[in-house]
Amino acid sequence: MPVTAVIGGQWGDEGKGKIVDALSSGADIVARYQGGANAGHTVIINDKTFILHQIPSGILHENVRCVLGHGMVIDPVSLIDEIDSLHGNGIDTTGRILLSTHAHIVTPLHRAMDRATGQVIGTTGRGIGLAYSDKARRLGIRAVDLIDAGSLGDYIRKRLKLAIDQGEITEAELPALKDDIEQFLHASNKLLEYLADTVSVMLEAIARGDSILIEGAQGTLLDVDLGTYPYVTSSSASASGIAAGLGIPARSVDRLIGIFKAYATRVGNGPFPTELEDRTGEQLQNSGAEFGATTGRPRRCGWFDAVAARYACRTNGIDEIYLSKLDVLEKFDSLKICTGYRWNGEMINDFSAAVHKLDKMEPIYEELPGWGAGVSQLTDANDLPDQAKTYIARIEELLEVPVSHVSIGAERSQILKR
Ligand code: IMO
Ligand code: MG
Repeated sequence: MPVTAVIGGQWGDEGKGKIVDALSSGADIVARYQGGANAGHTVIINDKTFILHQIPSGILHENVRCVLGHGMVIDPVSLIDEIDSLHGNGIDTTGRILLSTHAHIVTPLHRAMDRATGQVIGTTGRGIGLAYSDKARRLGIRAVDLIDAGSLGDYIRKRLKLAIDQGEITEAELPALKDDIEQFLHASNKLLEYLADTVSVMLEAIARGDSILIEGAQGTLLDVDLGTYPYVTSSSASASGIAAGLGIPARSVDRLIGIFKAYATRVGNGPFPTELEDRTGEQLQNSGAEFGATTGRPRRCGWFDAVAARYACRTNGIDEIYLSKLDVLEKFDSLKICTGYRWNGEMINDFSAAVHKLDKMEPIYEELPGWGAGVSQLTDANDLPDQAKTYIARIEELLEVPVSHVSIGAERSQILKR
């Protein structure tokens, strides 16, 4: 089918980069519609690790064009670094990166304000919430505004003055920002060659029937509307952001793939009912190498939460599931899946009824047997141990969506079709 979207079903870090990379071979366009350098998408090819933050993972396939849609917030310095690093690894990006003229821009001021205020939420410190905030306050600048260096300089000066007047930063912080602003202006100038009318690019590609892959960043539970507010990111990370963030009709997505990790992780603060703050959680963290690709922070780990995952399936309209990191669970003799919450003597099965008081939910678990080592060596999903098949079947039953693929290791080849 021509337009496929890949959406994170949990709190991000589900393995979207790897799956998008795998699905990109044969795609004409891979597009991102929201978020920015807060994302960290890891792709491992022949022992070489690529971590992408703003450029869609499709860039690693030479015939794919990558669209950075207007729903994103772009950090010029970080984007130029990313492009340079791809070039350093022999990846030719000529004509393959199309940056929307209307994407909003993250400035050094946004980053400074995020570093100063982001601790409560545990943000990535990349200025994301502040840039989206300026967008909503109609104070933002867009990629198209980078063209006129003179007005860009004026904008930066005015915005800094406003920040001081409104107490967003102190005058004492200005000298430290000076170098960052120089670097920002330099990188902004380098970005000009990538500017494109990406709405037309997308609409024309859809009209031609091109093969298009849409890459979500973060996950449904971090979505500003659907997630665990206020412990969320500041964009529509779920499928709901696709139409607005790329300027395409909401009905244009033909197939929606949800990526779920076979257990649960979360970076940053906020409620997490199935979190394991014990030895088991530590084991998950170590076996799964659960450390953030963007900030290096350890990820909080816990059992698969089917209540939350079912909500993600229903709100996004997920057609099929890729279940990632199944191999990590082989360390455990028995596994748990959360099938409901207990609160005030009541049973709650509906995440939407619980999301605003999630910290009070006590998870109700179902226990399933583990399957032991060896899964990562498999080449055929039919050969999965019976216990693993049972685990997957139970997830399918609870989520009412088929698990079409499982991933059993970091390499491109370690994705099995069921
Ligand atoms: P990928 O695309 C995991 C989390 C942060 C914090 C909250 C808000 O790799 O799955 P922000 O910097 O966005 O204002 O932080 O969201 N967060 C992520 N967690 N994976 C991500 O992206 C994330 N992007 C943001 O840890 O809790
Ligand atoms: Mg991440």
